[in-house]
Amino acid sequence: MSLQTLSPVNFKSWKELESLSKNEFKLNALFESNSKRFQEFSIQNKDFLVDFSKNLLNEEVFEQLINLAGEADLKNAIKSYFAGDKINETEGRSVLHTALRTSKTNSAKVEGKEVFEDVQSVLTKIKSFSDQVNSGERKSYTGKKFTDVVNIGIGGSDLGPQMIVDALAYYQEDITPHFISNVDGDHVSETLKHLNPETTLFLIVSKSFTTQETLTNANTVRDWFLKSATKADVKHNFVAVSTNISAVEDFGIAKENIFPMYDWVGGRFSLWSAAGLSIAVSLGSKKFQDLLDGAEDMDTHFKTSEFDNNIPVVLALLGIWYNNFLGAESEAIIPYTQYLQKLAPYLQQASMESNGKSVDRAGVKVNYQTGTIVWGEPGTNSQHAFFQLIHQGTKLIPSDFIGFKNSLHGNSKHHDILMANYFAQTEALMKGKSKEEVHKELENNGLSVEEIQKLLPFKVFDGNKPTTSILIDELTPRSLGKLVSMYEHKIFVQGVIWNIFSYDQWGVELGKQLAKNTLKDIESSQIENQHDSSTTELLKYYKS
Ligand code: F6P
Repeated sequence: MSLQTLSPVNFKSWKELESLSKNEFKLNALFESNSKRFQEFSIQNKDFLVDFSKNLLNEEVFEQLINLAGEADLKNAIKSYFAGDKINETEGRSVLHTALRTSKTNSAKVEGKEVFEDVQSVLTKIKSFSDQVNSGERKSYTGKKFTDVVNIGIGGSDLGPQMIVDALAYYQEDITPHFISNVDGDHVSETLKHLNPETTLFLIVSKSFTTQETLTNANTVRDWFLKSATKADVKHNFVAVSTNISAVEDFGIAKENIFPMYDWVGGRFSLWSAAGLSIAVSLGSKKFQDLLDGAEDMDTHFKTSEFDNNIPVVLALLGIWYNNFLGAESEAIIPYTQYLQKLAPYLQQASMESNGKSVDRAGVKVNYQTGTIVWGEPGTNSQHAFFQLIHQGTKLIPSDFIGFKNSLHGNSKHHDILMANYFAQTEALMKGKSKEEVHKELENNGLSVEEIQKLLPFKVFDGNKPTTSILIDELTPRSLGKLVSMYEHKIFVQGVIWNIFSYDQWGVELGKQLAKNTLKDIESSQIENQHDSSTTELLKYYKS
């Protein structure tokens, strides 16, 4: 079944929300008038507590947002998503990354065939490969144990695995992970500089195996490897993950060293597949399974919870409220752990490549906003970088604050300071500081009336800045899987309501095509392609 084509602007709830958005939502007053606000606007699911009470909404708005999900036929959309219906219509594909982490046959079908057994057999291959590499049973071409693993890929074949490996560095086994993505030759050279071909395992990850950056890097790495080894040695140190088996074989990688990817898993949602081989190798197969289990926990919560108690649904609806009714253009992701420093870049692709669309499912230009701009950095560093703008700037930036009850290394002094900042920031953003408070403070500091008058406007905080606090017990492979799955489903829900196709990415094609022609102009003596005068002059300058 395909997703329904329903323009959200025609929904009753949309119109209600439009009129509700004209009201003022003063968080301090909303808390004062409702002593149960936290209980009413928070969801606990095992080790996750999501407090969305510090958001600019009241009961009426929340009710209409839930109605919006109902009118968009979200219930059936979720069924279609998990069942394997071809909801990626413009590419004629199912969207089944959830099938990669299910622990039981759940009737996810592609072309009428259950995918469960196929997924399990590849998962077994991933686990036994990573176990063999970790135990030293699988050796390099000179018989040495691998010490390093290099993932060569870009976009979804890089960002997800890299974010996970970085986030779970605490749990890393003996093998050190590296990532080469950018076609910038300095990236590959800088990475290889520290590596020994005799002890390095290379994973070439490309769903299409046609991506210019990945193939260029893979060729450069193979040339570097062949300076110390022979072509016959490639099979020991190179492995590929792809759907394009013939292109991988042409590259020189043996059939037994190819891990399949699936047509029905989008690149940006593929870290749960063999695209996550670098995760399994560097963390071990048990932790990889824990990651999948955590994602499945969230899948189950998402599939079975009522919308008003459903974490991804509520997060998605809040995003729509700000984006479509209150005029916010971006949302910030602020994890209070250095381990999650790559979460925002990862979510940028997951969210912006999915929902950065301006044509609806009927092929008509939309007349409302779709995908938001996602950005962020860990706290407390970000407090000393861009928080000034969130506190006192002119833009509305709803922010997710992700914190953990326990630190991994058990340094409670540091952790308490970190978390004191986590709590204090959301409170400060909400409460602000009134003229009266500033006045009193300056007076107590002994400033004269004149000095107070001059300084006061700059020291006032309007407050009323919305935040959602996501408080998790501990950063583990399982909780991280759950967190990533939470955001994946948020993206899905928003795409359903915005009436767009979230799982294609035609917008990245034009630049790729032009780059091919431009490369010809750079490599040949003449600029043969027709460019605008700015591009022509820039090319001439570059070539001179
Ligand atoms: O940037 C476009 C894109 O197609 C992404 O969707 C994908 O994750 C990335 O390129 C890499 O593609 P591949 O895995 O086919 O090399």
